[in-house]
Amino acid sequence: MQRSKFYVTTPIYYVNDKPHIGHAYTTILADVLARYHRLMGVPSFFLTGTDEHGQKVCRAAEKSGMSPQEQADSTVVRFLDVWKKLEITNDDFIRTTENRHRIVVQKVLQDLHDRDEIYRADYDGWYCVTCERFFTEKDLINGKCPEPGCGRDVEKIKESNYFFRMSKYQDWLIKYIEDNPRFIQPDFRRNETLGFLKKQLNDLCISRPKSRMSWGIELPFDKGFVTYVWFDALLNYVTSIGYLSDDARFKKWWPASCQLIGKDILTTHTVYWPTMLKAMNLPLPETVFAHGWWLSGRDKMSKTAGNVVNPMDFVDKYGVDAFRYFLMAEMSLGQDASFTEDAFLRRYNADLANDLGNLLSRVVKLIGSYCDGNIPPPGTMGSDEENLKKVTLIAVEKMIDAVDGMRIDLGLAEVIGVVRETNRYLEKTQPWTLGKKGEKAQLGTVLFCAVEALRIMSGLLYPVMPTQTIILRKTLGLSSSVPDFRDLKEWGKTKTGTKIGAMINLFPRITPVTKDVVMKKGVNMTETTTAEKSPGVTEQKQPVTVPAGVVQIEYMDFAKVQLRTAVVLSAEKVEGADKLLRLQIRVGDENRQIVAGIALHYKPEELPGKNIVVVTNLKPAKIRGVESNGMLLAASNEGVMKLITIDGELPAGSVVK
Ligand code: ME8
Ligand code: MG
Repeated sequence: MQRSKFYVTTPIYYVNDKPHIGHAYTTILADVLARYHRLMGVPSFFLTGTDEHGQKVCRAAEKSGMSPQEQADSTVVRFLDVWKKLEITNDDFIRTTENRHRIVVQKVLQDLHDRDEIYRADYDGWYCVTCERFFTEKDLINGKCPEPGCGRDVEKIKESNYFFRMSKYQDWLIKYIEDNPRFIQPDFRRNETLGFLKKQLNDLCISRPKSRMSWGIELPFDKGFVTYVWFDALLNYVTSIGYLSDDARFKKWWPASCQLIGKDILTTHTVYWPTMLKAMNLPLPETVFAHGWWLSGRDKMSKTAGNVVNPMDFVDKYGVDAFRYFLMAEMSLGQDASFTEDAFLRRYNADLANDLGNLLSRVVKLIGSYCDGNIPPPGTMGSDEENLKKVTLIAVEKMIDAVDGMRIDLGLAEVIGVVRETNRYLEKTQPWTLGKKGEKAQLGTVLFCAVEALRIMSGLLYPVMPTQTIILRKTLGLSSSVPDFRDLKEWGKTKTGTKIGAMINLFPRITPVTKDVVMKKGVNMTETTTAEKSPGVTEQKQPVTVPAGVVQIEYMDFAKVQLRTAVVLSAEKVEGADKLLRLQIRVGDENRQIVAGIALHYKPEELPGKNIVVVTNLKPAKIRGVESNGMLLAASNEGVMKLITIDGELPAGSVVK
């Protein structure tokens, strides 16, 4: 979808807490979306901020012996610092205690009161301080807060209050949600809200008597009361862009394109917020998108369990780009995802160190060694080059779709797929051999194409990894290191003759440190670096006894070996070598030649059609002058050798692990 503008918001976070990975995630996601839209030339506005009123903040302040404002002022700094560190490019940061916000909230309250959208009545019900939400007796589950994942004690409230006539919009809202499938996403959240709306809606209590809780915005029509914190907080989304203060600006940005929230605050954003907007005669946001939960391993993160991941620690340890990349690549939007240091290191080493970092260093090294450090001109494009060009340009389109469809994870997988494909292309075309043989024209083609793929992929990765991709692009000598999207859609934009930069290691491999630690609930993930565990393997509490002479390896060491199934296409003897056979094999959609020392055990004609297992990421080698691109696996015992084959049917190219 071609947009004329993009306005993205995050929830405004409560200032009673310090920022954790959940806050970091939503804010990085908003940042990535804003950056993609800017990159694509769509005018964008990105808002985040802090929610500073309400009982929760008030109680935190009491605990720390400060006034609520002092508490807010001291905590907001932590958010500002983290956002800076995480390279967040928000256009505004709103605090609900700012004057500009108070003015808007009071104007809205006055207007709704004047139009009888707000009335006074007695309230008799329950309140959850953690969720800052009112509930009726019927709503409670076993006398506790009914919100999924909360279940805390609630407090009895019986007092005179003001109410917003939310219930009268119930039928309208149901119809609106049904008619506008993009409004609440993903679909299953939309159904959740529709399910909630099957019950009769109550009017919304929007005040507290100051005698009980005075930390909030005063009702303009009754000085004895302050506004309910959610009524105040939701309005931040319109305050920032000039509602009731700058009409032109407001018209430019409202309605919001994408309001990101966690699944915890679905009701407030898909029931309270749209009915408030309706009463204010404002259009609804295009999309409210509720993402899933980051879990610590399999557990919910919580302060009491002590397993809350602090983004600052992580960034200090591994760098901001890798952290941003992991969060974006690992969570399939809408679903829950698990955060563990193991999973982080696995992805880091595989995607960033082995694939992306390795591709850059290969290209830089080859251009340095064989082309005096200048990007060579390409010769003619063969079918391999055309294929690389094709997959590269497809990835650009897929990334556009991924951003539009809120599947950044899929877009990134596509990009890393092209990086991998480029590495494979180099393995196939062997530029190091071409260089040694002085085959300049062909070498030029190969290196030019590899640079092109890197230029375009680094541009697509820029919104997620804004620091490292710029370094990468400078190393490639790109005149504008900040990418221009139009250039990413076109193959062949690299200027030949450009001097490239010095060799760098963008993403050095991280070898996890082994500790004999049993990971248990409550371990702070940021402090423990453990050995890689293969999925499904239960942890060992006792160190295993190792037979003498056996070197134990980390799972990471094993994971470096890429094993895949292959089918043998043909086999023949290698001239002058008794033990060697030359095999042509197919791995996925790629044909390869390997040399194997099995001639004493297998006749060439026995082999075609066999499904074997091959190490596919072994450095190419020449064996008796014959190129070998991989190694097959075989077992031997007392002079008998048998090939490792597959037990059953699987397509050639399947991963073995
Ligand atoms: O609810 N995984 O603020 P809040 C993913 N002030 N995201 C998480 C998360 C986790 N484990 N934990 C928190 C409030 N989040 C209100 C919002 S808006 C008008 C007012 C993220 O500080 C997620 O975005 O409790 C969630 O919605 C938000 O933090 C809640 O932040
Ligand atoms: Mg919360």
